[in-house]
Amino acid sequence: MSKHLTRIVGWGHELLAEKISNGQLAVDLTAGNGYDTLMLWRQVGPSGQVIAFDIQQEALTSTCLRLQEQQAPVRQWAEGSGVLVAQAGVDLIAAGHQDLATYLPGAPQAIVANLGYFPSGDKSITTLPKTTLQALSQSVEVLAPGGRLAVVVYTGHPGGEEEGRAVDRFFSELDEVNFQVLQLRVLNRPDAPYLLVAEKRERK
Ligand SMILES: C[S@@+](CC[C@H](N)C(=O)[O-])C[C@H]1O[C@@H](n2cnc3c(N)ncnc32)[C@H](O)[C@@H]1O
Repeated sequence: MSKHLTRIVGWGHELLAEKISNGQLAVDLTAGNGYDTLMLWRQVGPSGQVIAFDIQQEALTSTCLRLQEQQAPVRQWAEGSGVLVAQAGVDLIAAGHQDLATYLPGAPQAIVANLGYFPSGDKSITTLPKTTLQALSQSVEVLAPGGRLAVVVYTGHPGGEEEGRAVDRFFSELDEVNFQVLQLRVLNRPDAPYLLVAEKRERK
């Protein structure tokens, strides 16, 4: 990974990677071109499972090819497939992340979301505040104790600032007893993407 100080996506990857071990379950809420899915797959290793969502088939195809290049076993599922079997490999779901909880076979150790649009496709199709908040609410519920949720927010496209405000509010209202919350921003570039991370505290 590049070590540029302001490489926000890379910091998100590092903060998730330090919490993921071989054989665990991880989730990508927005598959896109599959870079985050691939990072998660590398962390969970060949005995782990990654579940990735996207509403655009073009994005899922791109993610599938990227993962198959790395010899990952990839399975594809339609919307409404129900709870997936817990098994090693990558499951790509052609559905909105707002129904996340209906597919998960266990508690993920890490959940990632890069919000906004598919960079290689129609830029008018973006994540939206309502469904993003639904996905984040379910994410903090299903996350394993000690697990982390990392979200990269982009504000440069139409609707991005509104979504950013909603996501900021969501993270800032997570209760301090159960979650540690961090925000990472490029302070001298206010329009740059920024990172929000929540870690679910282990119960003593
Ligand atoms: C910025 S891209 C994701 C980048 C990706 N994580 C990567 O590593 O390349 C955002 C993606 O979110 C997807 N998306 C938008 N709304 C969604 C929803 N409700 N559920 C799942 N994916 C959604 C878009 O289709 C787009 O591919």
